[in-house]
Amino acid sequence: MSFNDEFLDEIRTRLPVSSVVGRRVKLIRRGREYVGLSPFSNEKTPSFTVNDQKGFYHCFSSGEHGDIFTFVMKTQNLSFPEAVERLAEDAGLEMPRRSPEESEEAARLAKLREAVEAACHFFQRALEKPEGRAAADYLRSRGLSAETIKQFRLGYAPAGNALKKEFTQRGIPEDVMLEARLISEGRDGRESFDFFRDRVMFPILDARGRPIAFGGRVMGDGEPKYLNSPDTPLFHKGRLLYGLSLARSAALDKKQIIVCEGYMDVIALAQAGFANAVAPLGTALTEHQLDLLWKIVPEPVMCFDGDKAGQRAAARAASLALPRLKPGHSLQFALLPGGQDPDDLVRHGGPKAFETILAEALPLSEVTWRELTATHATDTPERRAGFERAVFERVSTIADVSVRDQYRTLFKSRLDALRDPGAAAGRGRTGSWQGASAGRGRFAKGGRFRGPNWSAPAPGAPGVLARSTSAVAADPTRERILMAVLINHPGVLGHVEDRLGAINFADSRLDSLRQTALMHFAQQPDIDSQSLKAHLAGQGFGRELDSLLSADTYIHAAFAKPDASPEAATRGWDHTFTTYQRAGLERELRRAQDELERNPTEAAFAAYQSLAEQLGRAGDDADADGAH
Ligand code: UTP
Ligand code: MN
Repeated sequence: MSFNDEFLDEIRTRLPVSSVVGRRVKLIRRGREYVGLSPFSNEKTPSFTVNDQKGFYHCFSSGEHGDIFTFVMKTQNLSFPEAVERLAEDAGLEMPRRSPEESEEAARLAKLREAVEAACHFFQRALEKPEGRAAADYLRSRGLSAETIKQFRLGYAPAGNALKKEFTQRGIPEDVMLEARLISEGRDGRESFDFFRDRVMFPILDARGRPIAFGGRVMGDGEPKYLNSPDTPLFHKGRLLYGLSLARSAALDKKQIIVCEGYMDVIALAQAGFANAVAPLGTALTEHQLDLLWKIVPEPVMCFDGDKAGQRAAARAASLALPRLKPGHSLQFALLPGGQDPDDLVRHGGPKAFETILAEALPLSEVTWRELTATHATDTPERRAGFERAVFERVSTIADVSVRDQYRTLFKSRLDALRDPGAAAGRGRTGSWQGASAGRGRFAKGGRFRGPNWSAPAPGAPGVLARSTSAVAADPTRERILMAVLINHPGVLGHVEDRLGAINFADSRLDSLRQTALMHFAQQPDIDSQSLKAHLAGQGFGRELDSLLSADTYIHAAFAKPDASPEAATRGWDHTFTTYQRAGLERELRRAQDELERNPTEAAFAAYQSLAEQLGRAGDDADADGAH
């Protein structure tokens, strides 16, 4: 009797080795493994180890080694089918009924698997042949190393019917090729033909690392950009994540898994040192994929593009997760600057740029709140009431009682803060839920609040969020001055970089400009003003540059002009920055004070105090600055 791999894998997933072994052997955790006295030898010192991540046990004294099935077979003297039956029962799974037809089916799947593996190998070899030159150049031009190409088994599908010809020669039956979707049925009585032609190939590996399908990218422009294998008996796109087999162990190690949007994101991230990245396969995240992720870590990090589609994808993932939340498990959202995907980010800003994005990931509760505030006006009592209803409707989708209760409490306090009549004026229907500064930087590391609790925004304030440590100030003139100095005098970079990198501008366009400039500096620290402007204009900031580098700015700050001396520019920048930061802190302090009066908790008091302290320090700096 044979079992299909999916069934055995499902049992393995449900039953960690330590739980099966733990019933017979007393195990003690040691780092990532468990140790105990070997059931296979008579020992006094433990030499028996269990590793759940690898799914194996190993006995150093007897050399015994295996998985849950061999363990049960050996310790309970059972045959393999008996062991499977017993463990399936433990796992709460029904035994598949194996009729002759089912065995036939298993054999058919094995044939498909072989064919897809052969295709993967065929594409890999084609990449190394002369016909694959352009594809190899393409992959290199995208910054991929030979090692990465090998690791992800990237390849090239030649033009014509190269695969079909070769496979036919090797005696692989046409119906196998058809069923694996390596070739397509010819229409109107014509010959079948290769499904992937003249494309760079990204094999899709199953959870155990076996190729079961492909994505193929055109090298130039052309539609579709990525052609993906349709579902086959081996491949169900909603039940798998691209990169999972490679990412799993890194994710378990780091206790973090990153979900991005595309093939290239996963690969570029892995090459940049983030081996723990996966992507859905060209569709929105499914419930099944969410479950897969939650089996690996409690809070997967969604990392979607900083564009409209990316925001929509994030909002969809959030709505998918809400009903399924459990105590301790949730999602986080790392939001990328506008128009960039993780691949762009690590290529231009290096691993550090991505680290920053990850460190600033927002919790699901936050993203949900932002999405709600961005889509509802709250500037009149009726609209606030409508908003309140929408908030509680959303909360009511959470099935788990205790999580729902926590959300209700959190959102209730934020709604209360909105009751302040002056408070809601700044909020319109048009906002982006990424927040006024692209959602970045208002959270301390790990997505936890460092500062005060929620407070209502003052009129004209950028959003519902405020963090104590950064200058969340509606102070566009000073923001423009800070950028104008930097663009006209790139030499000040070394002096200002740390401070400019640690803040967010309230104006979101200006904040993207800030980030883009800093990212470009990371690559070209010695760039001159002309080239910097050209680069920024090339990134779509032409209009912002025109308005920044104009009399409107210079009238407030002559030191920002191109012909100002470097000393004046530096001094002027310092002074502007200090005032800018202090004004922001003052605003936040006023809010914290209001909050404290309204809601005198320990946390509110601590927040107030921390702000007062920071403001004290900023004042000292300002004095020192004034002494120049
Ligand atoms: P994107 O269009 O964001 O592409 O699609 P990308 O990942 O940045 O790709 P590059 O960098 O241009 O090579 C994101 C994902 O959506 C799916 C693919 O899985 C892709 O990785 N997609 C996109 C398709 O399946 N088909 C398409 O035509 C486009
Ligand atoms: Mn991309």
